[in-house]
Amino acid sequence: MRRESAEASSKLILLGEHAVVYGQTALAVPLKDPRARATVAQDSRSRSVAVELKDLGVRWDGASPAPPEAEPFARAIRAAVKRSAAVPAQGWKLSVRSSIPAGCGLGSGTAVAAAAFRAIFSYFSVPHTPQVISELVYEIEKLHHGTPSGIDNTVIALGRPILFKRGEPARFLKAPRSRGFLVVGHTGRRHRTSEIVAEVARARGKDPARYDALFRDIGVLSGPGAEAFQAGRWQELGRLMDRNQELLDDLGVSSRELDVLVDAARSAGALGAKLSGAGRGGCMAALCGDAAGAERAEKALKAAGAAATFVTEVSDSAQD
Ligand code: PMV
Repeated sequence: MRRESAEASSKLILLGEHAVVYGQTALAVPLKDPRARATVAQDSRSRSVAVELKDLGVRWDGASPAPPEAEPFARAIRAAVKRSAAVPAQGWKLSVRSSIPAGCGLGSGTAVAAAAFRAIFSYFSVPHTPQVISELVYEIEKLHHGTPSGIDNTVIALGRPILFKRGEPARFLKAPRSRGFLVVGHTGRRHRTSEIVAEVARARGKDPARYDALFRDIGVLSGPGAEAFQAGRWQELGRLMDRNQELLDDLGVSSRELDVLVDAARSAGALGAKLSGAGRGGCMAALCGDAAGAERAEKALKAAGAAATFVTEVSDSAQD
């Protein structure tokens, strides 16, 4: 039986979450691990397109109403069929598996959708650019997030570290000049990005001057952050991450669990640490200048109660 698989990386916002929603620049990188994988295979007897979500144990026949977990894939399939006459509305199936924990700021929903589009287009030989994948995934993202800034779909579809500002083309970063390591710690608490973004919007509504000043203070970190990233000046990038964490705390999006993990990583010698993504749970990230430092930070995060940890070498691409 013919089949075609494709992958997509997770992502980490190094600087600028929340502020990016208000037009400030953010810095994001794809992470090789964890990642998502989608497979398209022939299913010639089927009169619809079945979906199998392997991690969740969900199977949907494609004909009955879609369960909530399969809804984004139902939409992705419809979007792919609409986009190209080469993609039929029946006779194949889509299966997805992912090691990216959901609802924790690593872009899990975005990655599974990107992997699905890549697998569908490659199975049916539909030419596609990273930009097309990004735009299609953005449409799916709007379902969950309401008004996402676009940073997740952009960094995951392009698969390279970027500076991102709403409404402008992403700027690619060059490969860092020295080795650096990112250590991710998951608090184990899922968050709902749309709710947290809405809460920040309400708080801003009550005190726009204060919040806009915080967003600006966050936004100015990304330019120097990109320079430090490319030069491999990890101490400097770490300091910018620490400063960003202070400002995120002022915004009210950190949490006790996040603070515990951030402190643990710093005490273990990390060069900087902050929450990543919407906050109030989800993941934090620490930056380390060498593999031994990353190992120490990971150990400290586990000892401090991290539900999951991931270590990745900083690079200029999500490809192996
Ligand atoms: O969905 P998350 O947790 O990765 O958060 C995305 C980053 C935000 O800036 C909080 C929202 C957005 O749309 O950019």
